Amino acid sequence: MRKQIAAANWKMNLTLDKAEALLDGILSENINPTENGQVVVAVPFPYLIMVNEKVAKRKGYAVAAQNCGNKKSGAYTGEVSVEMLSSIGVEYCIVGHSERREYYGEIDEILQQKLVLCLDENITPIFCCGEALDVREKGKQNDFVKTQMEKALFDFSASELKKIVIAYEPIWAIGTGKTATSEQAQQMHAFIRSVLAGKWGEDVAQDVTILYGGSVKASNAEELFHSPDVDGGLVGGASLNAAEFIQIIKALK
Ligand code: G3P
Repeated sequence: MRKQIAAANWKMNLTLDKAEALLDGILSENINPTENGQVVVAVPFPYLIMVNEKVAKRKGYAVAAQNCGNKKSGAYTGEVSVEMLSSIGVEYCIVGHSERREYYGEIDEILQQKLVLCLDENITPIFCCGEALDVREKGKQNDFVKTQMEKALFDFSASELKKIVIAYEPIWAIGTGKTATSEQAQQMHAFIRSVLAGKWGEDVAQDVTILYGGSVKASNAEELFHSPDVDGGLVGGASLNAAEFIQIIKALK
């Protein structure tokens, strides 16, 4: 069975003292995720070592970066390479979050470069896709997401693709409190899985973890996560509250 993941995305929030307190709160309950369960905590670069020291001791928990450079190494001021990340124990990396695409011009070609570098470094990328409200209102969400997948994922082999986690994050649900309904999430996840099956076959498609992101809360996580093609969530705001994120972890199937 494919991994079921509760992933926190703290984004650009928290000073060190608050980050440590939040993490201690999340780890205060010794929740062993289910056999296929995984908790991932994606934190700002400065906190990666501190978080990894604490989560590495906990079965089923791992630290993630929220981004990585699209070059292996060199004169790229301000960038952080995947080899730097793996050298400090980072196991996952978010690639192509809509906020990176929107605010920092990360086009699909750059994202593909990041995915290649992550896989070469044995870091599991969490590849984000999802449409804006105007696309959804036109009913063009399937075409939009399929194009994002084709541009960033279609050059990979089946064995490479199986190492990639996909996160469907409808932009109109991110930070808005307007969560996709479980029917909307299931429809898109099933569509994403059908695109994977069309390219790499049904067996590969069934092995890929597909997360939902966009106003996941303790109140809606159970219904969302128990949809057949939803394999957990990528959680922003609610992951900044330890008690709420613990409830979201418990909602994994
Ligand atoms: O990466 C997850 C994030 O984009 C979702 O944010 O606050 O809607 O849970 P939020």
